[in-house]
Amino acid sequence: MIVGIPKEIKQQEYRVALTPEAVQRLTGSGHSVLVEKAAGEGALFNDSDYINAGAKIVSTHGKLFFLSELIVKVKEPMPEEYVLMGTKHVLFAYLHLASSRNLTEALLARKITAIAFETVETSDGSHPLLAPMSEIAGRLSTLEGAKYLQRPWGGVGKLLATFSEDELAPKVVILGAGVAGTAAARTAAALGADVTVLDINEDKLRAAVNMLDGKVTAVLSDQKAIEKYAAEADLIIGAVYRPNDKAPGLITRDHLKLMKKGTVIVDIAIDQGGCIETSKPTTHADPIFEVDGVIHYCVANMPGCVPATSTDAISKAIVPYVELLADMGWKEALRQDEPLRKGLNMHQGKLTCEPIARLFELPFWSANDALESESEK
Ligand SMILES: NC(=O)c1ccc[n+]([C@@H]2O[C@H](COP(=O)([O-])OP(=O)(O)OC[C@H]3O[C@@H](n4cnc5c(N)ncnc54)[C@H](O)[C@@H]3O)[C@@H](O)[C@H]2O)c1
Repeated sequence: MIVGIPKEIKQQEYRVALTPEAVQRLTGSGHSVLVEKAAGEGALFNDSDYINAGAKIVSTHGKLFFLSELIVKVKEPMPEEYVLMGTKHVLFAYLHLASSRNLTEALLARKITAIAFETVETSDGSHPLLAPMSEIAGRLSTLEGAKYLQRPWGGVGKLLATFSEDELAPKVVILGAGVAGTAAARTAAALGADVTVLDINEDKLRAAVNMLDGKVTAVLSDQKAIEKYAAEADLIIGAVYRPNDKAPGLITRDHLKLMKKGTVIVDIAIDQGGCIETSKPTTHADPIFEVDGVIHYCVANMPGCVPATSTDAISKAIVPYVELLADMGWKEALRQDEPLRKGLNMHQGKLTCEPIARLFELPFWSANDALESESEK
């Protein structure tokens, strides 16, 4: 199996999928690993680090795709990468298809086999390849929110790192008590904010409160509760997730009118289409916009701005699955590993994730059917 690691070309994306240490594990088992020139630079790895780990450096993006079978990258392919892919390629990356019909249709048209990090799911329903980035995005969401609460950015003008027992303590409202939401809550509570977390899942709420030593208020989420808490909030963090599906719309444009001017919304779930009606994807270069006096921060690759931290976390999480794919080939790896099979999003021009197929009204077959069709060949 020839494994290819391209340089990321999304704007301000400095991560790389595998560290030299992870590459060494693959080359040590006899796999060929190709790394695009300077792919690791943003995460502080030189080409020589990869050469010492047994990889070969490939000079151009086009050549890397042309020579590789298994493409392991961080972010979804950009339009200029669509044409570089075809039926021979297995793509293993964050895809977040629910956020883009164009991306979904373009990848289907190329007839690639695509396995999405974020839909790999273990038997307890957790997402081991999404979790490390959600943990980082959650922490960052509070830090970014703290910045944009400052008056020069249009925020309400409150210091998030507040004085203890201060009755002016900023109110932080977090939608979703999963990995990102709990990380955001932990960071905000540590800074002294008054934190409320809402979720539809009572177990998640209980777990968050236990993990945070009761320093947050947990509220069972429904539309009425969201309206009440959003109206009082200084900072709202959207951290909900429905696997394989578009994020639920929780705050509408009308709700913004109930909020005070200078409220900040950080919609972490923007990579799944966002949970705020007025959200639209932004970049690290131009991260915020304002609607009805409310500041929106909607960067879809938040951990990309801390590549030295996030590359290590992502690489450690994905390398066991890359090894499975490389050792057994994608078909056998998916037959044998149920969590990885859940990661299959498309094969031979057809989706294998039903909610996305429903969302975009596109043809669907199950991962098992896709694998069976391969056995018949
Ligand atoms: N923007 C970025 O850079 C970035 C980075 C990492 C993760 N993310 C995204 O952050 C989101 C959260 O990821 P996670 O790993 O924390 O997910 P998670 O599964 O751990 O948690 C999601 C939580 O949302 C809750 N939820 C679902 N529907 C809800 C609803 N209608 N109302 C209230 N709560 C609801 C679930 O019960 C769950 O507890 C995902 O969309 C993920 O893709 C974005």
